[in-house]
Amino acid sequence: MASLEDLIPTANKLQDVMYDAGIDTLDLPVLAVIGSQSSGKSSILETLVGKDFLPRGTGIVTRRPLVLQLNNVAPNSPLIKEHHGEFESSVTQANDNTSELTLEDHLRKNQGFESVDRSEWGEFLHLPGRRFYDFAEIRNEIQNETARIAGKNKGISRIPINLKVYSPRVLNLTLVDLPGITKVPIGEQPADIERQIKNLILEYVAKPNCIILAVSPANVDLVNSESLKLAREVDPHGRRTIGVITKMDLMDGGTNALDILSGKLYPLKLGFVGVVNRSQQDIQSNISVEEALDNEEAFFVRHPVYRTISTRCGTRYLAKLLNHILLNHIRDKLPDIKARLNTLIGQTEQELQTYGGTGAITKENRAGLVLQLMNKFAARFVSSIEGTSTDIGT
Ligand code: GDP
Ligand code: NA
Ligand code: MG
Repeated sequence: MASLEDLIPTANKLQDVMYDAGIDTLDLPVLAVIGSQSSGKSSILETLVGKDFLPRGTGIVTRRPLVLQLNNVAPNSPLIKEHHGEFESSVTQANDNTSELTLEDHLRKNQGFESVDRSEWGEFLHLPGRRFYDFAEIRNEIQNETARIAGKNKGISRIPINLKVYSPRVLNLTLVDLPGITKVPIGEQPADIERQIKNLILEYVAKPNCIILAVSPANVDLVNSESLKLAREVDPHGRRTIGVITKMDLMDGGTNALDILSGKLYPLKLGFVGVVNRSQQDIQSNISVEEALDNEEAFFVRHPVYRTISTRCGTRYLAKLLNHILLNHIRDKLPDIKARLNTLIGQTEQELQTYGGTGAITKENRAGLVLQLMNKFAARFVSSIEGTSTDIGT
C-alpha cells in the first residue's frame, strides 16, 4: 500500500504482542473518501491500495458504500495454503460452464493455475467462503452487487458492500469508498437525493475515529467544495480532515493551486495534498498503478510552479502522510496498552502466589517478556515517528 507498507512489520508485531496479552485491537482509524461525483474518490483509494479493483468512471459509478477491510497475511501463512482445494474446485466448476465465459476469460483460465497469484485475494461478506484471486473479477462483483441492491438506473443504497482484501502488502486497516454528492436527481433517484447522500456520508464520517479524505477537483472553485462543507459539519476544527485536490492536470492554463496547497485559503491541521489520478484515457489504455504513480511524480517535478513543492505533492506523499497519522495514533495508544499489560502482570503474579508458584512460572516469564517487548516497541515507534516527521515536515 504505497509507503503505508513501511508500517506493516511493526504493526504486526505489536498486534501479535497484544493478541498474546488478550488485547484484541489497535483500533486504527477508518479512512473515508468524500466528495462530489466523479471528483476522483475511487481512483485515490485504488492507488493507495495499489490494486485495480474499484469501478471508476464518469457519471455515478459508486452507488453503495464500499467498506474495504485490508488484512495483512504473511506470505507463508497457513491461511493461504488451507484453501487450495476449494480454489481448484471452483475453477473446475467455472470451466464446466464454458458457455458463460468470454473468449478472454477462457484464455486466461487456460493459462494454468501456476500463473494465478494466490498470495492476495478478496472475499465479500455476501459471498462467504469464495475467494477472488483475480482483482478484475472483484470489480465485476462490486458492479453486480451494486446493481442487485441499488438497481440498474443510477439509484443509491445505504446498504454497504463489505469486501475483505488479504495480502502480504497491506496494513490492517479499513477504508470506505462512498457515493459522490450530487445536486440534481437523475434516473431512479428520489427528489431529496442530495440530503440522502449527505446523510449516508455522515453515518461514516461523524465517527471521531474516521480520517476524512475530503476530495475537491482542482478545476472547480474551492469555495464550492461540497466535501469541505460536509467535513466541517463533523470536524469543525479541521483536526481529522485531509484536503485532497484531484485533477491537478486539468486546471486552466495560467491558474494554479499553490495557495490552496500551502493552506492559505482554507485551514486544515493535516493540510492539503494535490494529486493526479489516472484519466479516463489512462483507464482505457490500462495504465498500471505503478506507471500512474511515476507519471504523477513526473508531472509535479517538471511543473513550473509545483516543482518547488513537489516532495509534498502526489499520492505517494498522501500515503506517507497517512502513515504518519497512523503512527501517531499507535503512539497515542501505547500508554493505555502498557497500563493494561501491567494490570495483567499484576493479576498473573497474584495468581502465582495462590498456586504457590510451580507450574505457572512460564506464565510469569511470558508476562515479563510481553512488557519488555512493549518497551522495545515503544522506543522503536518513537524513533520511527521522529524519522517520519522530518520527511513530512509538518
Ligand atoms: P469518483 O466518482 O469520485 O469515485 O471518481 P472516479 O475515481 O470514478 O473518477 C471519475 C473520472 O475522473 C474517471 O474517468 C477518472 O479517470 C477521472 N479522474 C479522476 N481523477 C483524475 C485526475 O486527477 N486527473 C484526470 N485527468 N482525470 C481524473
Ligand atoms: Na464517478
Ligand atoms: Mg467512485
